[in-house]
Amino acid sequence: MAEFTLPKNSRVREGKAHKAAPDARRVKTFKVYRYDPEGGGNPRLDSFEIDLDDCGPMVLDALIKIKSDVDSGLTFRRSCREGVCGSCAMNIHGRNTLACTCASADIPGDVTVYPLPHMAVIKDLVTDFTQFWAQYELIEPWLQSGTPAPQRERGQTPQERARLDGLWECILCACCSTACPSYWWNSERFLGPAALLQSYRWLADSRDEHADERLDGLEDPFRLYRCHTIMNCTNTCPKGLNPAKAIAEIKKLMVERKL
Ligand code: SF4
Ligand code: SF4
Ligand code: FES
Repeated sequence: MAEFTLPKNSRVREGKAHKAAPDARRVKTFKVYRYDPEGGGNPRLDSFEIDLDDCGPMVLDALIKIKSDVDSGLTFRRSCREGVCGSCAMNIHGRNTLACTCASADIPGDVTVYPLPHMAVIKDLVTDFTQFWAQYELIEPWLQSGTPAPQRERGQTPQERARLDGLWECILCACCSTACPSYWWNSERFLGPAALLQSYRWLADSRDEHADERLDGLEDPFRLYRCHTIMNCTNTCPKGLNPAKAIAEIKKLMVERKL
């Protein structure tokens, strides 16, 4: 019989419990993943009781309150606080999303907060994006054109511009890629939904003249074709985008250029 052992330090144990003040009236418990690489121990789940009447409405507000009032060591990324920078992506109540646009009161019961899944954890809620950014770089996310630049800008009709809607809004938060089972198992070789949506953003751009080269770069059993249309990416995208559709469009372009 096969025997499996969990990697060292992979078991999450119960951590510290921080109580709310006795006069707190609208108490919500946040169970937050903690991991300190310097401590050498297992990760733990600390719980923090927060009075929602004394805190901003979003999960990110609660994390900021915990950091300023209870435990200054709590580590997480955030910047814009309005869903446009992508820094605060994490797994909240079992779903990859942005902490700054996720309302605490909308979550039933305790709020569990984990880092994005299947990424190496650097500390607490901060994960290592090195590979994610390398894959983004690989799709060459910039306009590529062989024809000389016109006097003024390269024009687009309103219809050509409209083809970029649903693509340009991607904030590269990685919620989709880290929700994708194919990416979990093959993240070194499958580019994942975020990088592929970005690739299609340039393939769909009427001003870009390197479609063939871009498709050549994706013609590989892993980079594109490991997507099996499981749809987790589209279901989880906090910006309401559809990476699975973008991937399907790339596959269509692959077929069309062979006809
Ligand atoms: S497609 Fe959505 S989930 Fe994926 S990186 Fe872009 S914004 Fe984030
Ligand atoms: S549709 Fe493709 S990219 Fe999206 S979650 Fe499924 S396998 Fe991953
Ligand atoms: S802080 Fe920028 S998206 Fe949440």
